[in-house]
Amino acid sequence: MNNELKFYNEIKNWDFSEIKYIEESLTNWDIYDILNKESTKNSYILDLGTGGGEKLLNNFPEVKKIIGTDLSPEMIKTAKFNLEKSKRKNIEFRVMDNLDMNIENDYFDIVVARHTCIDANQIYKCLKKGGILLLRGVDKLDCFELKRMYGKGQAYNDIKPISQIDYENILDAGFKNVELVPIHTREYYKSKNDLIALLLKTPILQDFSEMTENLNEKLDLSIIDNYIKKHKTNKGILLIRRYYGIIAYK
Ligand SMILES: C[S@@+](CC[C@H](N)C(=O)[O-])C[C@H]1O[C@@H](n2cnc3c(N)ncnc32)[C@H](O)[C@@H]1O
Repeated sequence: MNNELKFYNEIKNWDFSEIKYIEESLTNWDIYDILNKESTKNSYILDLGTGGGEKLLNNFPEVKKIIGTDLSPEMIKTAKFNLEKSKRKNIEFRVMDNLDMNIENDYFDIVVARHTCIDANQIYKCLKKGGILLLRGVDKLDCFELKRMYGKGQAYNDIKPISQIDYENILDAGFKNVELVPIHTREYYKSKNDLIALLLKTPILQDFSEMTENLNEKLDLSIIDNYIKKHKTNKGILLIRRYYGIIAYK
């Protein structure tokens, strides 16, 4: 089992409701606003890397059919449990690898890929003509000050930003009118424990290709203290987030 699958299987959900923070968006690009605007009641939507289905169940519109997929069987187990609780209809969750997609061709009106890996060619195949890919990703410079202090983290050693790689792969797959938008947000964590909870739950300080140990045992708290000293504000502990959004048409 690869490190990434092990990580997500152990986490089992993508629920952050226990962590206290506020978010300020500096960019006017919201994947769910676009999704809601572009879909109709007859739409077929695929959500890749759906996690425990938390975002799908709370933000996706009521449409003809939604399929949420994830590589982690534990995440899909959580998603099925959350679906039952939600009482939503026309939604199905199943295990699937985004890099080895086993799904109908020319079937979906919209594919959503939020904070997960993609294969643009395979997404292109499963979309209908005129169908839309909506992607949001975590970019190289996300939480960069913190990653710099730890000397490691997600995409820390990447030469080319992942936003650029995705953008070019999507163009190369044959998509038209491809737009790449930088998304900037500021998060303010209420306490040190809230920030630590985020770092333990997400791969911000992880590099899956090098991960060998439990992050919990490796999180050097003196670095966190130093970071907090520099970034404490009256709104909370500041974390600068750098995401990107892509919209592309088949
Ligand atoms: C950061 S979470 C994002 C969850 C959700 N999309 C969201 O935006 O809240 C990433 C998810 O992608 C899944 N994932 C990672 N690699 C994958 C792959 N190759 N195929 C399918 N899912 C994958 C993980 O299991 C995890 O649930």
